[in-house]
Amino acid sequence: MRHVVVTLRVAWRCTARRLTGVLLGALLVGLLLGLQPAAVQAAAGEAPVDPAVLARAVDQMEQLDRLRISLASSLEGSSEEPTMDTMREVCMPVGKRAMAIGLENGWTVRQVASRYRNPDHAPAGAQDTGVIDLFARHPEITGLWEPASPDQGAGVNYYRRIDVQPSCLACHGSKDSRPAFVKERYADDRAFDFRPGDLRGMYAVFIPELQEALQQAG
Ligand code: HEC
Repeated sequence: MRHVVVTLRVAWRCTARRLTGVLLGALLVGLLLGLQPAAVQAAAGEAPVDPAVLARAVDQMEQLDRLRISLASSLEGSSEEPTMDTMREVCMPVGKRAMAIGLENGWTVRQVASRYRNPDHAPAGAQDTGVIDLFARHPEITGLWEPASPDQGAGVNYYRRIDVQPSCLACHGSKDSRPAFVKERYADDRAFDFRPGDLRGMYAVFIPELQEALQQAG
């Protein structure tokens, strides 16, 4: 499994298709070693995270990101003055959906940003900060895997970058141009003054080791 983990840790541009290649590559390493993928980590006394589950995590984060982009662009295209309600309907539903994805799959799904709007989304530890920093320095890296940090228990983390689109600037542009509800509600807001293409933050998925997930389900 060492090889599988190492292979998975290699940062890669993330598209669903590319992921399949990466996972197949990881599996191939396991197979070349003469081990069944499922048995690889078990041999080291640990249960593996099923590669199909890893693929699902990537797919779910791609869908989540597309949801936000489509919600933001629907607002942009509207000729009517956005009301308070429509203004709220971009990043809050994304937060709710992220939580639901976590519950449906037995994962922890978070949004993380150093320049956060909601303080719940501040980086939670050294790994969060390190990965954000890496995404900031390497715009070509879309997603990557990391082993769980010691306080998380056994499992893997998947991180996926969030970039700023022109449509985000309605609420994440200059400080003064933020909608009134943002100014009122987020006293400690740091999520403004972005430009298209900037790193906005990341999705962070913690996938617990299979055994733990089964225990939770049972
Ligand atoms: C209609 C206003 C609006 C638009 C447009 C908007 N956002 Fe947000 N964004 C918000 C609000 C409000 C929050 C805080 C939500 C909460 O409390 O969880 C937020 C939070 C976030 C967060 C979570 C981290 C944090 O800072 O709390 C990310 C990531 C994010 N936005 C990215 C984007 C991206 C990327 C776009 C464009 C595709 C975008 N937003 C467009 C209003 C908006």
